[in-house]
Amino acid sequence: MCGIVAYVGRKIAQPLLIEGLKRLEYRGYDSAGIAVIDQDGGMHIRKAAGRISVLEDSLHNGPIPAGHVGMAHTRWATHGAPTEINAHPHTDDQGRVALVHNGIIENYAALKKALIEEGHTFVSQTDTEVLAMLIGDVYAEKIKHHKSNGVSVLQLAVQEALQDVEGTYGIAVICKDEPDTLVVARKGSPLIIGVGQDEYVVASDASAIVEHTTRVIYLNDNEMAVLRPESFRTTTIDDVEITPDIRQLEHKLEEYELGEYEHYMLKEIFEQPAAVRNCMRGRAKDSNIVLGGIADCESELRNAERFVLTGQGTAWHAGVVGDYLFEEIAGVPTECTYASEFRYRNPIVEKNTVFVAISQSGETADTLAAVREAKLRGALTLGLVNAVGSSIARETGRGIYLHAGPEIGVASTKAFTCQLTALTMLAVYLGRRRHTSPAECQELIAGLCAIPEQMEKVLAQSLKIRDIADEFHERENWLFLGRGYHYPVALEGALKLKEISYIHAEGMPAAEMKHGPIALINEGMPVVFIATRGVQYDKVISNIEEVRARGGKIIAVATEGDAQIRRYSDHVIEVPDTLEPLQPLLSVVPLQLLAYHAAVIRGCNVDKPRTLAKSVTVE
Ligand code: M6R
Repeated sequence: MCGIVAYVGRKIAQPLLIEGLKRLEYRGYDSAGIAVIDQDGGMHIRKAAGRISVLEDSLHNGPIPAGHVGMAHTRWATHGAPTEINAHPHTDDQGRVALVHNGIIENYAALKKALIEEGHTFVSQTDTEVLAMLIGDVYAEKIKHHKSNGVSVLQLAVQEALQDVEGTYGIAVICKDEPDTLVVARKGSPLIIGVGQDEYVVASDASAIVEHTTRVIYLNDNEMAVLRPESFRTTTIDDVEITPDIRQLEHKLEEYELGEYEHYMLKEIFEQPAAVRNCMRGRAKDSNIVLGGIADCESELRNAERFVLTGQGTAWHAGVVGDYLFEEIAGVPTECTYASEFRYRNPIVEKNTVFVAISQSGETADTLAAVREAKLRGALTLGLVNAVGSSIARETGRGIYLHAGPEIGVASTKAFTCQLTALTMLAVYLGRRRHTSPAECQELIAGLCAIPEQMEKVLAQSLKIRDIADEFHERENWLFLGRGYHYPVALEGALKLKEISYIHAEGMPAAEMKHGPIALINEGMPVVFIATRGVQYDKVISNIEEVRARGGKIIAVATEGDAQIRRYSDHVIEVPDTLEPLQPLLSVVPLQLLAYHAAVIRGCNVDKPRTLAKSVTVE
């Protein structure tokens, strides 16, 4: 949720840190800060409430001295309001050690009490300041007895302090006394080390690193690193030496750039045909699906007796579509459950259960915890994840990478359609090994291969959809209704609209409307029906009639050439015909565009909606 970028090397750290922060701003954006140590060992910190531009202006108006080691942070508040004081970096009360932190220190209250009893004074309400104080306290004790032998006392202090910490962290720490050293550590919050020539750029995600180097080390939980321009060392937080695994980043800088688009969300909506193609590349062949990431558990998957799909938000909506796909195509009992619910109830994980975690970021705290719970109870776990090397990808150990490319807009779009693509491929893979005929599989695969081109046809209607958004953008309540495969699409349409335009929207199965929500429908209320041709088409038409009878305005997403639905609708957005299980891949696209245009017309910040963060790494 928060973003960290840190640097040690030969360059002036400050411009690089600010650039990195801007790339990370989508992760959290209620306050920001920077710390650098200058050549004389002076620590300089600047913080600001608000967006990174506010911090930038402050640095422009009153620059801080240059340094070759430093770190910066963009915050999404958990403990303490989004004020300048609560912004990171935080220091100990000697101003000797400074720290930026993602995650939550769960036992911060107890640690704070003990540190206050020792005579320390705090200025913020954050859990992070407690960690900075603890490291500073241990450091002060260690330095008294330290004999200079090239070992970083800061490293020793961080190691010792972390033994007392409960919770999650990705941290970067610097110390005035060691102006060429950056110490980083991770448990539960992502941290990537970019390995350059005599320099290291550490960040919460690759977007802040790729400009400087494509060689990276993904730190694992309970690992840390001591970085100096001329050397680095990776260990566990118990000081067991680790041989670093330096990997190549898979995305290029251009993929993180806005290009010709006004917003990342619009760029990512329009990237969907290419993203879906990438997701299928080398995997869809005639009547078969080839999935290298699950090849070693083929027989367990063939014999699986039950699937549990999980995720949060948009990923959970994809999981609900997956539930329908798995039961219809693979004929295997399936349920989709919120990860946040699964992890805290007492879930029954029967023999031969496969647990599939769906996540764009691969860092969602609840989804990660649910995977751990499922593993503990004996399930085989798979990850359907976009971010390569992320925590969920590593924790599950097997799965299908989405290959959607970096998704920067807070509203998930191309990740959703790639999640649907991966789920469809997995359903066909299972079906082919269980009871679906080769001909049926071939038909589904051919349908899937046609989707990118069909998506282009939907995208071409963007301006028409903008006119619809313009007509209704002042309405504060919307309903999204669909049946079968389109029930989760209705949920997703409503989520897109509410998260970026702040319009209240509800999505539900169309039949559910009569059980209460129908009372909400009044003159002029926009009601979006996903009403493509399929087995429940006539029933959806009846639901449309019920809404019309109460004065609601009908926006229908319908199959190309459907003349009948025009008689019942105020607006029709056409999507090409495809097999029913594949329809969500097309019908969600107009809903993404509708939400996007409504938000732009209402003057909302589409890519960084208020109070939301891209990846939710806290509960
Ligand atoms: O990174 P994940 O896919 O695990 O994230 C899950 C949700 O937080 C995410 O889909 C969220 O609902 C988005 N803001 C939806 O657009």
